Amino acid sequence: MTKLNIQAIRRDFPTLHQEIYGFPLAYLDNAATSQKPVQVIDAVADFYREDNANVHRGVHQLSQRATDSYEGARAKVCRFLNADSDEEIVFVRGATEAINLVAHSFVRPMLKAGDEVLISHIEHHANIVPWQMLCDQVGAKLVVIPMTESGELDLSGFDDLLTSKTKIMAVGQVSNALGTVNPVKMMTEKAHAKGIPVLIDGAQAVPHMPADVKDLDCDFYVFSGHKMFAPTGIGALYGKQALLDEMAPWQGGGDMILSVSFEKTQYNALPYKFEAGTPNISGAIGLGAAIDYMQSIGIEAIASYEHELLSYATERVNKLDGIRVIGTAEHKASVLSFVIEGVHPHDVGTIFDQQGVAIRAGHHCAQPVMQFFGIPATARASFAFYNTMEEVDALVDSISKVQELFA
Ligand code: ALA
Repeated sequence: MTKLNIQAIRRDFPTLHQEIYGFPLAYLDNAATSQKPVQVIDAVADFYREDNANVHRGVHQLSQRATDSYEGARAKVCRFLNADSDEEIVFVRGATEAINLVAHSFVRPMLKAGDEVLISHIEHHANIVPWQMLCDQVGAKLVVIPMTESGELDLSGFDDLLTSKTKIMAVGQVSNALGTVNPVKMMTEKAHAKGIPVLIDGAQAVPHMPADVKDLDCDFYVFSGHKMFAPTGIGALYGKQALLDEMAPWQGGGDMILSVSFEKTQYNALPYKFEAGTPNISGAIGLGAAIDYMQSIGIEAIASYEHELLSYATERVNKLDGIRVIGTAEHKASVLSFVIEGVHPHDVGTIFDQQGVAIRAGHHCAQPVMQFFGIPATARASFAFYNTMEEVDALVDSISKVQELFA
């Protein structure tokens, strides 16, 4: 059993300590968004209490302190991802905005009719729709790596999908709907061998496992803060400096300029070239605090403990009759998706809620995955390191309750 002091950790998360319909809350909806520790809440509140000012714009003390904290957070993201320099880290609203930025600034200028964009069947909508929109604009083709019944990528024909027409491969590291951990390092190597740039969507990976852009050697890596204990509305795009340097800005406005006249605008250096307008300063500071918090626990220890939670939950659920686990990949992280025979997942979610168990019921922004399995939705429990084995037991008790009610 991994040695984490879960009770001490839980004391850092105020929202966890409440009753729902008289039951202790079991928050198992971490893939939708995670709870925030006091260290993050305080970092955000302290910024507004003590330092609030705009960044990169003032000579006064508050602005300098705000700038130092904001840029300090960027340095933390850089180390967290094992990137080479802060210039490779662009603050964005989240993974979705980062993918749209790469689609518009990197891929759009080189995409022609007949070209291809390669994604997979188990992507989140955020890693499908921006590419689809782009392909529609120029008459390019969206090519999809197929999946298997276990929810893994079917890579049997992968080499043939990487062609001279492929302008980018964009794949998720971990599936939010199924929990599948994809072999993105090997896939990146193969894409690079054919000169194809790679974007990895790490939104569902960063809360659960180390993220190392040097080891993955990806060209772009994107993630959202809110799934890793940071505030909503903040995330980061990592891009290799040589690529970001070549890319044109996506949005125009303040902070991304060096000088403006009606004849010509000279753009700012990296990463500011991509940060138009006043950024989410407090969000970035909160993200920095979330990184500190995760690192103080140890990301390897988090991964190992969550693996125990998921194994225990899977083992208990597999012993039940009348329940089908959706997504049985060999390598999984944090997610247990399932359907209960004869009960719509939304009813499952509502009855669970009445037992204090918070899960997500729906298509999880991954409708093609649902279409593959021929179901409209699943019930999804998703774990974080502050969850306990007792909460897994509460989940299993809630399944029994649903089955009793629908017997
Ligand atoms: N993408 C989020 C989820 O998986 C919202 O629930």
